[in-house]
Amino acid sequence: MTAQIDRYAVFGNPIKHSKSPQIHTLFAEQTNQSMTYTAELAEIGQFESAVKTFIQNNGKGLNITVPFKEDAWRLADLHSERAKRAGAVNTLKLVPHGKLYGDTTDGVGLVRDLSQNNHISLKDKAVLIIGAGGAVRGVIEAILNAQPASLLIANRTAEKAVLLADDFSDLGNISGCGLDEIGNKRFDIVINGTSASLQGDLPPIPETIFNEHACSYDMMYADQATVFMQWSKQNGAAHVFDGLGMLVEQAAEAFYIWRDVRPETVSVIKKIRDSL
Ligand code: ATR
Repeated sequence: MTAQIDRYAVFGNPIKHSKSPQIHTLFAEQTNQSMTYTAELAEIGQFESAVKTFIQNNGKGLNITVPFKEDAWRLADLHSERAKRAGAVNTLKLVPHGKLYGDTTDGVGLVRDLSQNNHISLKDKAVLIIGAGGAVRGVIEAILNAQPASLLIANRTAEKAVLLADDFSDLGNISGCGLDEIGNKRFDIVINGTSASLQGDLPPIPETIFNEHACSYDMMYADQATVFMQWSKQNGAAHVFDGLGMLVEQAAEAFYIWRDVRPETVSVIKKIRDSL
C-alpha cells in the first residue's frame, strides 16, 4: 500500500479568498515537507462533521477561520493555555489516540510581526487596541506577555471593552472604555482590531492619539493601504503596517505546531504581498 500524503486545510465560510493555501504551500516547499494544504468551505452547522470526514481522509491538521473558531474550541479534546484564554481555536492538530489538540496562533503572529519583521517593541509602550470582538480577544494575552506599560481596549460598544479587559486583568495593566472616552490620551502603538476596514469604514477615534514616533497597525490587509492606515499617516503615525505579516506569522506558528519545523517568513510575506 502506498503511504498517503499528510493533508492539511483551512476551514471557513466564506473561504474562497483565503491566502492560507498559498502560504502553507510555500512553507512546505521551503522546508521539504511532504504534505498538501487546501481551502475547504464548511457549511454552517456542519463544521464538526466536516472536520471528522477530513481527519478520516488522512487529515493531520486544520486552520480554522471565521465563523468557526468557537466551534473549533468546543470540538478540540485538548487545549493550549492560550487557546483557553482566547476561548477560540484557529489551529487543530491530530494527536495520539485520535484526539484533536486546539491552539490559537493569532496573538503570537501579531507580536512576531511587530517585533521581528517591523522591529517594533511593545515593552514599556502605551498601547491602544480598537475593537473588542473575537479578533482582539485572540491577541490580548500575547500583547500583555510582551510587557507594555499599559494596554487600553477601546470599543464602539464600551461595555464589551470593559468586560474583555476584566478577563485579562491578572496578566498586566489593561483597561477598557468606549471610543468616545479615549479623549486626548496618546499612544505609542495603536492597533485596529475592528472589522471596520473590511467595509472601508474608519472607527471614530480622535486625531490626537499618536505620540511622536508612534506605530499604527491594522490587523486587516488589502492590496492597498486600508482607510485606517491612510488616516494614521495623515494624523502623525511614524510607522504604518497592515496585517499581512500577522497572517503569515500565525500560519508559520501553526505549521510549526503540525510539522515541528519553523519556516522562514520574510520571503513568504513578500511573495504574498506581490500576489495581492
Ligand atoms: P471579529 O471576530 O472580527 O473580531 P466581531 O467579534 O464581530 O468580529 O467584532 C467586530 C469588532 O469590530 C467589534 O469590536 C465591533 O464593535 P462593536 O462591538 O461595537 O460592534 C467593531 N466594529 C465593526 N464595525 C465597526 C465600525 N464601523 N466602527 C467601529 N467599530 C466597528
